[in-house]
Amino acid sequence: MAGGFAVSGGGGGDYEGKVTAFVIMTCLVAATGGLLFGYDIGISGGVTSMDEFLLKFFPNVYHKEKNLKEGGTQYCKFNDHMLQLFTSSLYLAALVASFAASITTKAFGRKISMLIGGLIFLIGAVLNGAAMNLGVLILGRLLLGVGIGYANQSVPVYLSEMAPPKLRGALNVCFQMAVTLGILIANLVNYGTSTMKKNGWRVSLVLAAVPAVIMTVGAVFLPDTPNSLIDRGQKEKAKTMLQKIRGTSNVDNEFEDLIIASDMSKQVESPWGNIMKPRYRPQLTVAVLIPFFQQLTGINVIMFYAPVLFKTLGFGDGAALMTAVITGLVNVFATLISIFTVDRFGRRPLFLVGGTLMIICQIAVGSIIASVFGVDGLGTFSKGLGNITVAIICVYVAAFAWSWGPLGWLVPSEVFPMEIRSAGQSINVSVNMFFTFIIGQIFLTMLCEMKFGLFFFFGGFVVIMTLFILFFLPETKGIPIEDVSRIWKSHWFWKKYMPADENTHV
Ligand code: BGC
Repeated sequence: MAGGFAVSGGGGGDYEGKVTAFVIMTCLVAATGGLLFGYDIGISGGVTSMDEFLLKFFPNVYHKEKNLKEGGTQYCKFNDHMLQLFTSSLYLAALVASFAASITTKAFGRKISMLIGGLIFLIGAVLNGAAMNLGVLILGRLLLGVGIGYANQSVPVYLSEMAPPKLRGALNVCFQMAVTLGILIANLVNYGTSTMKKNGWRVSLVLAAVPAVIMTVGAVFLPDTPNSLIDRGQKEKAKTMLQKIRGTSNVDNEFEDLIIASDMSKQVESPWGNIMKPRYRPQLTVAVLIPFFQQLTGINVIMFYAPVLFKTLGFGDGAALMTAVITGLVNVFATLISIFTVDRFGRRPLFLVGGTLMIICQIAVGSIIASVFGVDGLGTFSKGLGNITVAIICVYVAAFAWSWGPLGWLVPSEVFPMEIRSAGQSINVSVNMFFTFIIGQIFLTMLCEMKFGLFFFFGGFVVIMTLFILFFLPETKGIPIEDVSRIWKSHWFWKKYMPADENTHV
C-alpha cells in the first residue's frame, strides 16, 4: 500500500522538474487563500468573548455570564443560538458558494475563482467592521463565507496542479500553514484589541480585509495551471507554462500525460453523475469522509471557542485570550512538522500517530473536567490543573496540526482524476464547511448538554477515523497526480470497484 508505484501510461511518468522560484512564488501567493480562512476561524472566538461586543449584539449572553457568580452551571454560560450563528453562518455560506466555485473553476480557471473569492471577502470584512446591528453583522459573515467557499475550492487544486509530484504534499501543506498563521494572527489581534477601550472588536473584524487584498491582487498576477489551460483548449500556452514552472524544456512526458488525462475527462458528460459511478467509489468516500472526520476531531471547539472554553475553565479574560495565542502558536509550529515529513514518511504515518495522540488527550481532558466540574458544572479549576489542561490541549492541537489539519485538505485534493476533480473538490469543501458549520452552531449547546462527555464523544470519533485510515486509505505519497488512480487497484478493499480494463489514467 505504500508509495513507490512504477508509473506507466502516456508519458512514462518520471517527470523532470525543479522547484523553480516560479513554483514557490505562485504557491506562496495562492496560499494566502489559507490566510483568509484562518483569520476568520480564529477571530470569532476572541471577539465573542469581548464584553463590548457581547453587550452590543448579545446582551443576554453578557448578563448571563456576569450573573453566573450567583449560581448556575459553568457548562452553559455561553449557550446561545444567535451567538453560535455569528460564528457558524460563515461556513454555511461557504458551503453553498463552493458549488458555484466549482463551475467557475472548471469553466474559467483557478485564478478567476481566487479573484472572485478575494473580492467578495473584502466586502464582507468591511461590512463586519462597520456593523451597527446583528443583521449587518451576519450579512458580513455570510459574504466572508462566500469568499472562503471560492478560495477553499480553488486554492488547493491550484497548488496540487502547480507542484512537481515529488513536492506536491509539502507545497500543498503550505495552504494549511497559511490557515494556521491566519488563526495565530487573529488570536494575536484579539489579544491586542481586547485592551482597547472602545471598538476593539471592529478592528479585529475589519483587519480580515488585509489577507483579502493580498489574495485579490495576487490572483491578478498568478498564471493559470497547465492542467486548466489544457482543459480549456489552450495547449500551446499550457506547454510553455509547464516548461516555465518546471524550469526545463524537457516536459514532454508530463505534458503528454496531462493531455491524455484531459482528453479522458472530456469524454465525461457530467462530472457530478460521474463521481457517483461505482468506479469512483473510493474517491467519493474520501471526498465525503475525510472532511467529515476532520471536523469530528473536535478541533474547531478549540479554534472557535478557545477563549470561551478557557473562560469556562475559570481563566480571566486576558489569560483566556493569551492561552488562545499559545494554542495558535503550537498549531503553526506543528504544521511545520507536516511540511517536512509528509513527502518523506507519507500521509498514513502522520495520520496514525496524530490520531492516537489525539485520542489520549481527549480522554485526559474529559476526565479532568469531569473531576473538577462533575455533572453539575459547579466546581472551580485550580491554577495548576488549569495549566495542565492547557498543556494537554496543546498536545492535542499539535497532533491535529501535523495530521488531520493539513492532510484533511491534501489527501482529497490529490486523489481525484481530472474528470471528477472539480466536483470532487467541491464535495470535499462543502462537507468540510457543513460540519464546520454544525460544530460552530452546536458546540456551546453540546457543552451545555453533554458536559465533559463531549470530549469523550469527539475522542470516540477519532478512534473510528484512525481505524478508517488504517484499513481504507492507501498511501498517496510521491505519486503523480494523473496516475494516482492506480492506488485503488492494488488496495485489498477498493480493488473490487475497479473495472478490469482500467486504464492507468482514468
Ligand atoms: C480545518 C479547520 C481548522 C484548522 C485548524 C483546518 O484544516 O479545516 O476547520 O480550524 O485546520 O488549524
